[in-house]
Amino acid sequence: MTNETVPKTAKLTLGDQEVDLPVMVGSEGEVAVDIRQLRAKTGAITYDPGLGNTGACLSKITFLDGEQGILRYAGYPIEELAQKSHFVEVMWLLLHQQLPTTTQLAQFTHDTTYHTMLHENLKQLFNSLPKDGHPMAVCAAAVGALSTFYQNPGQNTPEQNWIDAIRLLAKMPTIAAYSYKHSIGQPFMYPRNDLGYAANILHMMFGTPCEKYEPNPVMARALDLLLILHADHEQNCSTSTVRTVGSSGANLFASVSAGISALWGPLHGGANQAVIEMLMSIRDGKRTAREFMELAKKKDSGVRLMGFGHRVYKNYDPRAVILKKACYDVLGQLGRKDPLLDIALELEQIALSDSYFVERKLYPNVDFYSGIIYKALGIPMEMFTVFFAIGRMPGWIAQWLEYHRDPEARITRPRQIYMGPTARSYLALEKR
Ligand code: ACO
Repeated sequence: MTNETVPKTAKLTLGDQEVDLPVMVGSEGEVAVDIRQLRAKTGAITYDPGLGNTGACLSKITFLDGEQGILRYAGYPIEELAQKSHFVEVMWLLLHQQLPTTTQLAQFTHDTTYHTMLHENLKQLFNSLPKDGHPMAVCAAAVGALSTFYQNPGQNTPEQNWIDAIRLLAKMPTIAAYSYKHSIGQPFMYPRNDLGYAANILHMMFGTPCEKYEPNPVMARALDLLLILHADHEQNCSTSTVRTVGSSGANLFASVSAGISALWGPLHGGANQAVIEMLMSIRDGKRTAREFMELAKKKDSGVRLMGFGHRVYKNYDPRAVILKKACYDVLGQLGRKDPLLDIALELEQIALSDSYFVERKLYPNVDFYSGIIYKALGIPMEMFTVFFAIGRMPGWIAQWLEYHRDPEARITRPRQIYMGPTARSYLALEKR
């Protein structure tokens, strides 16, 4: 269907009722039936577990076409941004849906650099948590705790929201690095304002007060690329969470803290860690790649080919295409080899020629190759998802701000189809 041929309404027949529901068309031709009046007109609701057929908002931030494998931030193809842009510019792009001017970029770079320090008292929060706690839990706690340092009771004004956004973008790398330093018992490293965004992260992660540490520019560029590729992905699980929490009027820190928790799960951002664990189990001879693939096809095995499949992409995830090439580039530039890359390539080759994966349109997603690059940068496995969270921060914030500008936004409150017992009388304990 083209824009011109899309009908203005969709007819729904329910018994003897017939209703015309308005049809909407997005700027990329996405057709949607507007069901907002459905219940009022018919008494019926829709059923869509996992919300795979539900457009929950109008958005101008990110477009993705899962059939064709297209991803664009505010119209700019991810491939072009990956090649020509940098993370700080991409953050601005997502927040404003346009590229910054020289002056805007300079101001934004200044702001996201000069708000990187954490309140000294926040260090105590890190120190009070167990060293072996997962850093995603530590980061969720620290981000939530920012709302106690920057209190904004019930005033989500645009000015306040922007200040909170800058604080989060600037402080998230510091929080991430502190969560790592705490886990290994090293002193927290203060941010360095003379370094770029990615280089500063490497400094806070790997520097110590005892020795001079100069971030390797190849590593900084590789990290910057990873952050760009993770920066937004429209209404995924964690972003929907951020919007949902924000819809209650909760502040930005609280909303994003919930997003970090949602991202942690192995079916979402946690898959990047799970991929490396899977590749290592094959490398260490627990089972061969072929044996693993046979297991991944069996529903009752509880095993999935991690880093494969996607709710929206039914084609190669364009981010995985970029990352696969980047694996070669980064390992080559650093003069390293990693047998895990060979295992990943073997798994991919088996999957792409196996009818189970082909018929279900399961292709590598962003997490399949990202872990190999994180590993080459020396980032420990437990921190992979934290780095995903640093990258996703501008997306979460942009989506949260967009929600707050949306005149049609309402508190998120789905309905349900109740299948439990109908009304019955309470039975006294001795009669049960
Ligand atoms: N390995 C084996 N089988 C799979 C896989 C996989 N990785 N992914 C999906 N399938 C199968 C399912 O068993 C199902 O089979 P069936 O039709 O015979 O029942 C079919 O493919 C469809 O899968 P669903 O789970 O219904 O797809 P859904 O859209 O709900 O889930 C998800 C998407 C969660 C990403 C899934 O593909 C998966 O678990 N992948 C592995 C985890 C992963 O890599 N997550 C990261 C996603 S990207 C991100 O969040 C950053």
